[in-house]
Order: sequence, then C-alpha cells, then structure tokens
Amino acid sequence: MDIKLAPSSLTESKVGLVALPVFEEDLGKKGASAEFDAVDAALGGIVRDIAKQEGFTGKAGSRLAIHTHGKLPASHVVLLGLGARGQSDLEALRRAAGTAAKEAVRVNAGKLAFAVPGAWSAFDEARAAGEGLAMGAYRYDKWKSKKDDDKKELKQALITAPSFKKNADADAGLALGLAVADGVNFARDLVNEPAMTMTPTLLAQAAQAKLKVPGLSVTVHDRKKIEQLKMGMFLGVAQGSREEPKLIEIKYTPKGGARGAAAKAKPLALVGKAITFDSGGLSLKPADAMVDMKTDMAGSAAVFGAMWVIANVLKPNFPVHAYVGTCENMPSGTAYRPGDVLVARNGKTVEITNTDAEGRLVLGDVLTYAVEQSQPRAVIDLATLTGACIVALGMYTVGTWSNEDEWANKVVDASKTAGESFWHMPLIEDVKDNLKSPIADMKNSGARWGGAISAALFLREFIGETPWVHLDIAGPSTTDKDGGYQVKGGTGVGIRTLVDLVRSLEA
Ligand code: BES
Ligand code: MN
Ligand code: ZN
Repeated sequence: MDIKLAPSSLTESKVGLVALPVFEEDLGKKGASAEFDAVDAALGGIVRDIAKQEGFTGKAGSRLAIHTHGKLPASHVVLLGLGARGQSDLEALRRAAGTAAKEAVRVNAGKLAFAVPGAWSAFDEARAAGEGLAMGAYRYDKWKSKKDDDKKELKQALITAPSFKKNADADAGLALGLAVADGVNFARDLVNEPAMTMTPTLLAQAAQAKLKVPGLSVTVHDRKKIEQLKMGMFLGVAQGSREEPKLIEIKYTPKGGARGAAAKAKPLALVGKAITFDSGGLSLKPADAMVDMKTDMAGSAAVFGAMWVIANVLKPNFPVHAYVGTCENMPSGTAYRPGDVLVARNGKTVEITNTDAEGRLVLGDVLTYAVEQSQPRAVIDLATLTGACIVALGMYTVGTWSNEDEWANKVVDASKTAGESFWHMPLIEDVKDNLKSPIADMKNSGARWGGAISAALFLREFIGETPWVHLDIAGPSTTDKDGGYQVKGGTGVGIRTLVDLVRSLEA
C-alpha cells in the first residue's frame, strides 16, 4: 500500500473513504475541526445528529460509518473515537488509523483519507497514523487458496492535515512510521509462518534477505561453530531435531566505517529467542498448548524488525549488535533428556528437570556470547519465555526485568511513547531456591510459583556485570483478536519500544 501526506482529505479526488478521528469534546462543537466541519457541511449538517442517534460519543476505539449518498466523492465517512482530549494519546490515534485501514477494506474504498486531529506534533501524528494504517492493513493470507474476501485491497492512504503541505517534520515522522510498520509486518510474517516453512535455516535466510541494508552485516554460523563455541545448553536443546541450529549475528555500524569514532562507542546488544517450534521436547506439551508454538521465535522476529528500522531510518551514532540462536525443540531418540546435565558456554552446569524450559538454555549461551563479543553498554533480550508471565500480566503486557533499575526505566519509558505496554517486574532473590540442584550448579526449572521470575533469575547467571534487560513477551507476541491496528497472529511486539529506546539513547 502507498501511504502519503496531503493537505486536505476533501480536495483529494477519488478517495473512497474519509476517516475522521474525533475527541469526545469536539463532537458537539463547530469550529473544533475544520475537516469535520467541511464533511458535515457537504452532508448538509447532519453528521452530529447521526452521531447522536447512533449513540456515537467519540469514546476511544469506537467507530461510526456513514454513507455519503453521493454528496462527497467518497462513498463513506467514518468517525473514529479518540476518547477525551486530556486522556487521549498517540496510541489512540494509531489505533484509529488501524481501524480506518480495516474500514476501507470493508467498504471497498480502494483509496482512503485519514485526517489527523492536529493535537500533537506533525512528526508524531504522521508517524502514528503511518504506523497504524500500515499495520492495520496487514494480512497473512499466503496459505489461503481463496483470498480472505473479495474485498478490494487498500491501494492508497492519504494522511491529511492542513499543516502537511511541505512539512519536513511530517515527512520524517511518516518515514519513521512506515519503516516501523514494515519491520512489524516482517516480524508478523515470520511469526505467522508455520514451523515447517520457518525452520532455523529458513529463519536465518529470511533475516539475511531482509536485512541487506547499508550499515548492516549479517553472519549465520552453523552447528560446527556453535560446537566450537562450547554452547552446551544451546546444543542440548537442538539435538532432538533433524533441523540444523543456526547462530545469527547482525551488526549495525554507524557511518564512518568500523574505524570511525562513532563505531567505537559502546554497542547496544539485542538477543532474541528463536525456537522455531516448541513441542516441549521429551517433557512434551499437551496438544492444546502446542498449537501456537510456531510463534516461539517471536523474540527474534522483533529483533530483526528493530534492526531493520535502526539501519534504515534511525541510524544512531553508536553500534547495535543482535544475536539470535535458533533451533527446534523436539522429542526424539537423540533429544536431550530430563536428568541430563548440560555444560554452558560460561562453564556453569545445568541439570535438566524439564525439557520444555528450553528458551532459557539457548538464551543463556547466546547472552554469554553477546556480552563477550560486544562488551555492550547494555544487553536486552526478548523472549516468549514463560506461560507464568502470561498468568501474571495477561496477554497485553511485556514483563520487564533488569539488574539495573535505570535500564528497566529507560525501556519502560520507551514503551510508553511507543504505545506498547511494559511492566517492571522484580528479581526476587528467594525465588532462586527454585533452581537449586543437588547434582549440578543449578536446574533449568523449579516450582511453578514465580515461574517468570525464576526464568529471569536463570538468565541473570549468564550476563556477568553487564546492564541487562529481560523482556518476557510470551503474552503480547500474538493476539487472537482483530482490532485497531492489531491483526490475529503475530504482533511484532517490542519493535516500537526498541525503536523509541534507541531514539532516546541517541539524544
Ligand atoms: N515457549 C514456552 C512459553 C510460552 C507459553 C510462550 C505460552 C507462549 C505461550 C516456553 O518454552 C515454555 O514452555 N515455558 C514453560 C517453562 C516451564 C517448563 C518451567 C512454561 O511456561 O510452562
Ligand atoms: Mn518450552
Ligand atoms: Zn519455548
């Protein structure tokens, strides 16, 4: 889809749908929105009356589609509630834009105009609208023999505001928003793809193909290298599958080349969980719990999506390095067993008490490697790590752990500007008793209670003194509801927050 900025919705020809986001307070008022008033005038001054009769008040997330009966070139106008002005935020605008994209498909508009309200900066509104439209228009239908519906695809969307005429800030905001949405949609494709066609090898290839971007280098290591690196935990998980494990390294180097001053700044390191299918291994999951386990690589998908935006648009003046260990967790005659003892790259020994606690094993070795290789200012991991985190925080919120409150705060603050929901969680030392092993340095799983905390404490054993943030995305990495810019399936959660984090570090 083509998304552009324009000064006005109504003077643009052949728009099939005009979308008007509105605040609750503005609905009754003339003069609050020029665009609204113009639409209302064209329709003979009945829009407010229709809204009243239909019970549309501008509540956040609500919508009201009105047929124009030929009074405008557009066949429909849709009002999109932003909530009360004081409580509304850019996330409400982003959601409204996502809904607009879906409405355009529903009414066969072909072309859409989305009139931003002018309540925030031009940069922020263009960005949020661009993100919402491009994320909301996403579909995953490559396996449908008959495409979802015979509705017209949304071909073009205009984001309109009088101030968008030759406005460099708006241009920059849109460019960022579109890159973010592209990164998110790439991540969604990876997450939604079945495990049979998103094997570790194919995941590495997809990352390599997408991330052919100036400033980025992508290296894919095979099993031999992983053996040389003595990643005993990673290899233990991988040994049950016929699929070859891969270790993916991505480096963003700031302009000026590897010898420039900026390139010598301390890197930020990202690590993503990438189990392409998590059967649980010999500690097999129940049938229902296994159904969605093709999505157990969502952490890596978010890392890839973030690297895409970093290299294409953000171009920070410090390096960013990403590390992904990918494999499949399968039961077989060669699988690792409960009771086995694995030796991690950092020398620690781990008694396996549950082969379904595989993510922390792979991540532990990759975190060790990331810290050694990059000596980063901080390392951030994203992982669909525990069902316990979903029990604690639900489907919408990312659990956030850190050995340094300052870094947890930076990430949580970034999530707020990005419109994602993150919550700072505690590392409770007593919970570590969970992981005491009678025969090795530790176990890989323990009591059920505090399961998300023990997973975080396990990872902490592998990062030394480096500032580290662990993001458990098990809940929000997928959604089972369409709505706003969300589409059933992978969400790309984490990308927007990483983008805003990198932007905040740059300053
Ligand atoms: N990939 C799962 C966690 C998960 C669950 C992600 C549901 C998304 C949705 C992870 O590997 C896992 O199986 N964790 C176990 C850990 C336990 C065995 C200590 C869990 O949460 O049950
Ligand atoms: Mn598992
Ligand atoms: Zn898993």
